[in-house]
Amino acid sequence: MIRRLAPSVLNADLAQLADQVRLVEDAADWIHLDVMDGQFVPNLTIGPPVVAALRPHTQHYLDCHLMVSDPEALLPALAEAGANGVSMHVEALEDPERALAAAAGLGMDAGLALKPGTPLDTVLPHLDDLDLVLPMTVEPGFGGQAFDDRVLPKIAAAARAIAERGRPVALQVDGGINAATLPGCREAGANVFVVGTAIFGAEDPAAAAKAFRELIDGGAG
Ligand code: DX5
Ligand code: ZN
Repeated sequence: MIRRLAPSVLNADLAQLADQVRLVEDAADWIHLDVMDGQFVPNLTIGPPVVAALRPHTQHYLDCHLMVSDPEALLPALAEAGANGVSMHVEALEDPERALAAAAGLGMDAGLALKPGTPLDTVLPHLDDLDLVLPMTVEPGFGGQAFDDRVLPKIAAAARAIAERGRPVALQVDGGINAATLPGCREAGANVFVVGTAIFGAEDPAAAAKAFRELIDGGAG
């Protein structure tokens, strides 16, 4: 499967969101938007109005990571705002199958995200009904945390399970991804790389994004 770079704007200068996205557009495939509600995680960030505000400023795929306690409730507003894909935390879903179907019914790609301590078994029964799996490599909530390499075996197991199904399911990693941690994820089979601080915390975010593009496209695995 094609490998994608999805810069996360969480730690970008949010007062200039459209300009920050423009900086990384050439190198990026997707723009990763972290939607948090102050309940599922202790942080409160972007919601549908901000997604809608950004929509006219970029043609890129808007990849919304929902760290909220009721992901299904947000789906219609996110679809209306122009989100292309949504990842919902399996820990927050009482009926993952229904939530995935709802997202798909609204014309969005549908994914399931897992916290580092959540077993892969929670998403395996849904592999035929989703477009993306996201094993988080930090506790969700904040950018700039250290990568948890205990998640690598789960990424590899997810890659194997996806390959067995033979369906085009993306395998995303998010949290502490930088030049040192990305290659291990790529070797484990991840193919969508969310990068926040390592791009927007860099002196030159455009150059940093370009370097990640090369890192993702280069090398075996
Ligand atoms: C954390 C978010 C991430 C965050 C990643 O809960 O899901 O998308 O922006 O930032 P870095 O790359 O700094 O870990
Ligand atoms: Zn995220």
